[in-house]
Amino acid sequence: MTIISEAPVSATGSGEPATDALGRRPDAETVVDITGVTKSFGDRPVLDGIDLKISRGEFVAILGASGSGKTTLLRILASLDHANGGSLHVASQRSVVFQDARLLPFERVLPNILLGTDARKARATASALLEEVGLRGYEKRWPKTLSGGEAQRVALARALVREPHLLLLDEPFAALDALTRIKMHVLVLQLWHRYDPAVFFITHDVDEAILLADRILVLSDGRFSREISITTPRDQRRGWAGFNKVRRQLLAELGVDSETGGEH
Ligand SMILES: Nc1ncnc2c1ncn2[C@@H]1O[C@H](COP(=O)(O)OP(=O)(O)OP(=O)(O)O)[C@@H](O)[C@H]1O
Ligand SMILES: [Mg+2]
Repeated sequence: MTIISEAPVSATGSGEPATDALGRRPDAETVVDITGVTKSFGDRPVLDGIDLKISRGEFVAILGASGSGKTTLLRILASLDHANGGSLHVASQRSVVFQDARLLPFERVLPNILLGTDARKARATASALLEEVGLRGYEKRWPKTLSGGEAQRVALARALVREPHLLLLDEPFAALDALTRIKMHVLVLQLWHRYDPAVFFITHDVDEAILLADRILVLSDGRFSREISITTPRDQRRGWAGFNKVRRQLLAELGVDSETGGEH
């Protein structure tokens, strides 16, 4: 395997800008550039030659059936797992938020956010972020006293305090109720505008993908089988005439009959 750029391995990510095998700084505007990435577990191929390029500030949603390899790809992008083949260049400043907040239960909210950072430098940003995610005054709360939505807000703050160039989100709102989800959509877009990371956003929710993303990719049989770019401004997407068309295309790609809601 050719690894053009290997970056520090960390669930939360941080560090110096990535360099390629010759020590050159890659194009600062490209945060993900992978080609022909493969991954198998035992003799079962999961990723079968993935090509993906993501620019700084882009919001990319990934759809795919359960077991299609979405999390596997995210884990490879986060250096939590290794590809078996292909070339990878991924910005080293990256953060991950999973479906569950994964806060340390024996640390209060603020130390959870600051974990692994230079706390003196990051403290002001952490306080600002807590306020931005609507949790002002929560610094000393214990994780077990937080609701699911609050815990995910802390996880977002923890991810962003590292000022990632790439924010990797694995179904971050899947466990939340519908109303909390809508609030989290608004919040994640606000934070994305303010902190300007590229976002790699895994979801099962086709509508969520259409509402949030610049580009939607469908993963199936180990490859991206469909790519749809959306240029309609986000605040016009709910009533947008093209919404249902894109929705139908994506559902068909996922093998779901949008008329009946059932699988083919
Ligand atoms: N560590 C592992 N060892 C063996 N098989 C694995 C491992 N991790 C993932 N797999 C398998 O790889 C396939 C892809 O898993 P992955 O978690 O990437 O799917 P996914 O698209 O994220 O699914 P979901 O939507 O259910 O989260 C699955 O069949 C899974 O069982
Ligand atoms: Mg998954």
